[in-house]
Amino acid sequence: MPALTLERLLSSIGFGSRKEARALVRMGLVELNGQVVEDPFMEFAKRPESITVNGEEVTTEEKLYVMLYKPLDMECSHNARDHRSVFELVPDRFTAMGIQTVGRLDADSTGLLLLSNQGDFIHKVESPKKGYLKKYRVTLARPFTAEQEAELLKGVMLKGERREVVAREIERDGDAVVISIGEGLYHQVRRMFAAVGNHVETLQRISIGPVCLDESLGMGGWRFLTGEEVSQLT
Ligand code: URA
Repeated sequence: MPALTLERLLSSIGFGSRKEARALVRMGLVELNGQVVEDPFMEFAKRPESITVNGEEVTTEEKLYVMLYKPLDMECSHNARDHRSVFELVPDRFTAMGIQTVGRLDADSTGLLLLSNQGDFIHKVESPKKGYLKKYRVTLARPFTAEQEAELLKGVMLKGERREVVAREIERDGDAVVISIGEGLYHQVRRMFAAVGNHVETLQRISIGPVCLDESLGMGGWRFLTGEEVSQLT
């Protein structure tokens, strides 16, 4: 394996090609432990935990595991068409590092969105086989009746799907309803409530398996998942 030089390190965490990374160093924009580093070919025996680029301290971890509190009116796509893209909410360098969303939330849904550049992690968390329940808090246009609840728990057939989908759990939370499902079909929660004669007005994802939305992020905020959260999901 080639030696880990400063320019390689910077390039591996999204600061452009090695040539572009070299230019950043030559411009005096890169610091390590508070000292400007001038040599782009400086070698590291192991990755330093963090490095400062253009005044911002960044971790040097190549694997990205991120939690984002998705706001309304943003699309989970790199090529958003009708709204802004959620990728605008995280540093640009994450896109260069191959970040993707883990599943999607509709533009008019809010809440917990995971992002990563690790294909096996994305696959595991998305896979219905792995069995992570996703929990959504919804508000409804009409009163939620005991019959509707029973139908959702028994299973409903959605147009265009081959199998019935069931609500794995339903709880009441004041005026809201909290529903847990195992799959991630297109518009699934909205279609499930429509199938029993109701209508979802607001939809917020509050957890995926053991990982809960960190409300302290505020809408549009993000943070790295903790090591514990990553290992709980893998
Ligand atoms: N179900 C929906 O209908 N929309 C979402 O964004 C997520 C689950």
